[in-house]
Amino acid sequence: MPLNKQRKLKTFTLLFFIISFTTFLFTYTFRDPSLYFFKYALRLSDNFFSKGPCACPRCMMEPEDDPWFAERFNQSVNPLMTRDNSVLSDETLAWWQWLQSERKPTNFHKVVRDVFHFIPDEALYMDAGPERCRTCAVVGNSGNLKGSQYGAIIDSSDLIIRMNQAPTMGFEKDVGSRTTHHLMYPESAVDLDSTTHLVLVPFKTLDLQWLISALTTGTIKETYMPVKTTIKANKDKVLIYSPAFFKYVYDNWLEGHGRYPSTGFLSLMFAIHICDKVSVFGFGADQRGNWHHYWDDNHLAGAFRFTGVHDGDYEYNVTLLLADKHKIRMFKGRSGPVQ
Ligand SMILES: *[C@@H]1O[C@H](CO)[C@@H](O)[C@H](O)[C@H]1NC(C)=O
Ligand SMILES: *[C@@H]1O[C@H](CO)[C@@H](O)[C@H](O)[C@H]1NC(C)=O
Repeated sequence: MPLNKQRKLKTFTLLFFIISFTTFLFTYTFRDPSLYFFKYALRLSDNFFSKGPCACPRCMMEPEDDPWFAERFNQSVNPLMTRDNSVLSDETLAWWQWLQSERKPTNFHKVVRDVFHFIPDEALYMDAGPERCRTCAVVGNSGNLKGSQYGAIIDSSDLIIRMNQAPTMGFEKDVGSRTTHHLMYPESAVDLDSTTHLVLVPFKTLDLQWLISALTTGTIKETYMPVKTTIKANKDKVLIYSPAFFKYVYDNWLEGHGRYPSTGFLSLMFAIHICDKVSVFGFGADQRGNWHHYWDDNHLAGAFRFTGVHDGDYEYNVTLLLADKHKIRMFKGRSGPVQ
């Protein structure tokens, strides 16, 4: 081997050893200090970037919360029924069966088992945490939406929750066109597209049986009144409003006012429990104090305020208090958002 080449090999070997040794030193000797440094840096950035229990500028639950809100709000009650939470206490079951005084209730728990053979059983949306900023629009059916031009703001939310009839076609400018969740019961059912979650609000055991029937054979044709025998909806996206949550809303939020909460109020409660930021549209009367639906031209024909079973005034008071305490943002129609 020529001398020149030998020297080169020696230098190379020496370099190799120096590099290996330094790497070894760094990996083992300085391993802990560097880890500490990383941990420290991570903690610093954590404190800097996540200011609260969610990733939005404001969260539903704040560390030092308003006492009125903290007394009522319980984020661990799941608004949606799962197999696990479907086992109701005797008290809750009795209360729920009293709602519409079902005359011949079938075995509730057997029907629930049938339902979950038919639709998915998932615990959705119970993922509140510092990483999440879920924005939601709850869109009521009030005539105050007419001419409001809210469509674009509504459509920009992550979740868009509507209820009962709530047509969008022809009203897009004012009410938006997207719907992720549509709350309904057999007597108020409408057809949905395949991307929307049908959220059944059951008031009786028959409503759960109707759900299966309406998505399959269509054998159930009436409850206390004639109902849609079949509906268009994606059965893999069907969700069920939990009777236990229903009772929690009635006890904690309405404190027993009215016979039971309205679908509007139930939708609002659904939203504040699964979302971090809630905007509310189409609740309350229109500018002239009329109570009607945005799709009704006749201001008296669709009057929905005095339904007898709901305490609309009390519900509206709670809604306004939530807005007062910055838990929700109310959009009241053409006059703009009310702060
Ligand atoms: C909140 O709800 C959970 C689940 O239903 C219940 O176990 C818990 O006791 C409730 N917390 C309060 C403070 O009421
Ligand atoms: C609603 O709130 C107003 C003012 O706070 C109060 O005077 C009224 O009695 C409340 N209505 C109901 C039904 O609680």
